[in-house]
Amino acid sequence: MRTIHEVFTPGQAAREWTFVERAEETNRILVHALRTPGKHVAVFGPSRTGKTTLVFNKLRQLYEREIWTVCDPSMSFTDALIEAFNELAPFYTKTATRGSKAVSGLHADVLGISAELGSESTAGLVEERVLPPKLTAAFLARMLGEAGSCWILDDFHKLQARHRQALADVLRVFRQAANDYPAVKIICIGAVHTASELIPMRDDDLRGLIAEIRVPPMIPRELDEIMQKGEQMLNVVIGDRLRQIISYLANGQPGVCHQLCLNLCFAVDMEQTLPETYTFTDEDFREAVREWLTTSLDRLRADYDRACRASPNAKLHHQRLAVHALARFPHSGATHGDLLAVIREEHPTYRSTRLRDSLKQLESENRGYTLVCDGATGRYAFTAPMLHAYARQLTVNEAVGIDDLQRLALTVLEIVD
Ligand SMILES: Nc1ncnc2c1ncn2[C@@H]1O[C@H](COP(=O)(O)OP(=O)(O)O)[C@@H](O)[C@H]1O
Ligand SMILES: [Mg+2]
Repeated sequence: MRTIHEVFTPGQAAREWTFVERAEETNRILVHALRTPGKHVAVFGPSRTGKTTLVFNKLRQLYEREIWTVCDPSMSFTDALIEAFNELAPFYTKTATRGSKAVSGLHADVLGISAELGSESTAGLVEERVLPPKLTAAFLARMLGEAGSCWILDDFHKLQARHRQALADVLRVFRQAANDYPAVKIICIGAVHTASELIPMRDDDLRGLIAEIRVPPMIPRELDEIMQKGEQMLNVVIGDRLRQIISYLANGQPGVCHQLCLNLCFAVDMEQTLPETYTFTDEDFREAVREWLTTSLDRLRADYDRACRASPNAKLHHQRLAVHALARFPHSGATHGDLLAVIREEHPTYRSTRLRDSLKQLESENRGYTLVCDGATGRYAFTAPMLHAYARQLTVNEAVGIDDLQRLALTVLEIVD
């Protein structure tokens, strides 16, 4: 018996019972790096593809203890060090009484540092915190080593570059400590495209200490497995067809898949594993999509605006013309020629090169990677099916608001089915 929130977890790392193993290659490199003494790990890739979940579950399988520091833009590297220290300190306070020599040696220092940190003024805004002199990277390495723990710096990309640079110095110190504490490890996670964006460093020989692991968006088989696990655990049938549609809408993002499945459960008011198997209907699904849209309408609007923005005095909004033309096609997309024909229905002299330029821009980061072009067929398609549905609604309606969600949900199904 499981509750729906234990099974579908859009807001947190999936637990071991719903965790889906990632591609063999990703898995193997990560596990090898976690097992290799003295190796540190950089886990990167697009946002919300399952980096935190992957590290969380692999560490559960391999490590006895870990320290998680979740970074945010207001933090300095010093703050991160202090957080790690504070999380480790109770371990020493607890174990010191057991009389392990090494631990009790550290114990006094840990207490001293704790006291110093505790006495720091908390009144008013502290400009930038300073470390107590004894709380060095070498000291932290010792603490981690004695505790048999590793240190995870999650969302490390959120720290400012100058603070991220400090990690290189810490890695240098940890290299020294590796002889005494071979299992000590730093695992750095961030939503960036390359490891060097995550950990900027001038010293190339440090690079060799870091295993670089890219977590790509989920492939449909992985998304399908999340749903199949959910079906089994909750005694429900989502079914091949709806699973396929959800997988398509999720567009590589497991969180969306969890959210849509959770919404299916909400639609039928279930809380936990059912005594008798229930098969979700199309009606349930429309309700699930509608609810999902309620919470993502603002983001859709922002994505659309980013794709279509134009200077206020532009005569024609070129990107919008391209987006609206494509919105009329099915999700398999359309070629440059197809799109030009549509645009020329209203603008008979519209230039082919203009359209080419717009399509190219819509493929770029600057316009949110709105479109992808299939090199083999030359067809352009929307990257996100939801944006496709949203744009299609806008071709028939001036605006899409909360009242139009029912129609938008139907448009989604029309495009996908
Ligand atoms: N391997 C997996 N198996 C099942 N669900 C997953 C898996 N990886 C991620 N998820 C789900 O996807 C969502 C995003 O995962 P998360 O680990 O937070 O991504 P990231 O750290 O890359 O932003 C969460 O809802 C999580 O439960
Ligand atoms: Mg994360």
